[in-house]
Amino acid sequence: MPTTSKPAGLARHEAASAVIPGGVNSATRYVGAPFALTAASGAYVTDADGQRYLDYHAAFGAILLGHNAPVVNDAVCEAIGGLDLTGIGVTDAEIELARLVTELIPSAEQMVAATSGSEATAQAVRLARAVTGRRYIVKFQGGFHGWHDAVARNVISSPDRAYGPDPLSAGILDEVLDATLIAEFNDLESVRALYETHPEQIAAVILEPIPHNVGALVPTQEFAEGLRALTTEQGSLLVFDEVITGFRHAPGGYQQVCGINPDLTTFGKAMANGYPIAGISGRRDLMQRFSSAGGDVLLAGTYNGHPVCAAAAIATMTYLRDHPDFYERTHRLGDRMRTGLANILEELDVPGVVTGFGGVFVVYFVDGPIRGYRELLRNNHAAYVAFHRRMTQAGFLMLPMSLKRNHISGAHTGDDIDRTLEAARDVLKGMRAEGII
Ligand SMILES: Cc1ncc(COP(=O)(O)O)c(C=O)c1O
Repeated sequence: MPTTSKPAGLARHEAASAVIPGGVNSATRYVGAPFALTAASGAYVTDADGQRYLDYHAAFGAILLGHNAPVVNDAVCEAIGGLDLTGIGVTDAEIELARLVTELIPSAEQMVAATSGSEATAQAVRLARAVTGRRYIVKFQGGFHGWHDAVARNVISSPDRAYGPDPLSAGILDEVLDATLIAEFNDLESVRALYETHPEQIAAVILEPIPHNVGALVPTQEFAEGLRALTTEQGSLLVFDEVITGFRHAPGGYQQVCGINPDLTTFGKAMANGYPIAGISGRRDLMQRFSSAGGDVLLAGTYNGHPVCAAAAIATMTYLRDHPDFYERTHRLGDRMRTGLANILEELDVPGVVTGFGGVFVVYFVDGPIRGYRELLRNNHAAYVAFHRRMTQAGFLMLPMSLKRNHISGAHTGDDIDRTLEAARDVLKGMRAEGII
């Protein structure tokens, strides 16, 4: 009798599930089918069964220069074997890192390093509460700022839970959940209304300047400027969570693009091309409240500014600073992709909106225009997932989850974009023929 061997990805998933809950170390890494990658280089990743994918997932946006970028690998290899973790004083790498951040991010007068974006936003929320002596934080429906209690609510909410209590997790105290208020992106009046119901009680408004955790909601300039004016007028802090937009859309993040300085900025992901390091920056008077400077806001973290991750961040950021053409190129490839996809939708008469910014692109299966999360409630989630799943099966890795975005890195080429468009045409044609769209 012929024997069929088990696919290597499935075997790994089963082995992992025996010792790791669900077989993955972060819930959104399980996408309804086993996935085990074994190699990554440039714009490509390869799975355990030997299938090669053009990678648009980019580790949720942490990969910006391409996988295993030599400029980063070289810096990391040099760092390993030098100073490892010592936990006292400061290293040259930490000084250089902070200098680069304050040079590149327009609003950064000082910075501290953290190891993940969640830590950075936790620090920002606590600092804002300490500085203002106020209780409430405002976040937007659809925005994600990490896994900690203060912000883990109302991201991809169903219509019946959007804007109301929609925690991402059990185990969050009601009073903590209640201390985070929800507004609508691109709708200044929704923020103003919260100030009216909670006068002088809002410590900060935190936002992804482009909420990429629901694809790409691009802010109007009027909204961004309005938020700056309103938070200043109300004595609250404006916190830009640039964990995705930082270094990806411009060396100075989206604040450089829109010309608005927040009080605090959090960043991570692309800053070190995939190495685990993040940070918080902001006005000197605010940053001086950290206990490292004699202030009253605890600053602690064994791994903060780890030499290997700092080396990766310095290499990535130096590269980006010294290659302004990097942005011109990825933005051009992004435009080519968005225009191509929009043309295909039109040609096939498929209702949808192609959007994004720079190297990020998204196809919503909904009639436009899209302003905030409210319009995304009408998105055809089944079509969104089917499109990403079928593209992935065709060798173009797009995370098969609704509203997840796609990223073009420095390693993608114009030819890659054209091949992706050809595949997208076939996939969309097939979906239309099957009545999925
Ligand atoms: C905008 C934003 N902020 C914060 C975080 C949390 O970062 P981390 O996963 O590094 O904790 C994420 C993660 O996806 C994010 O997208």
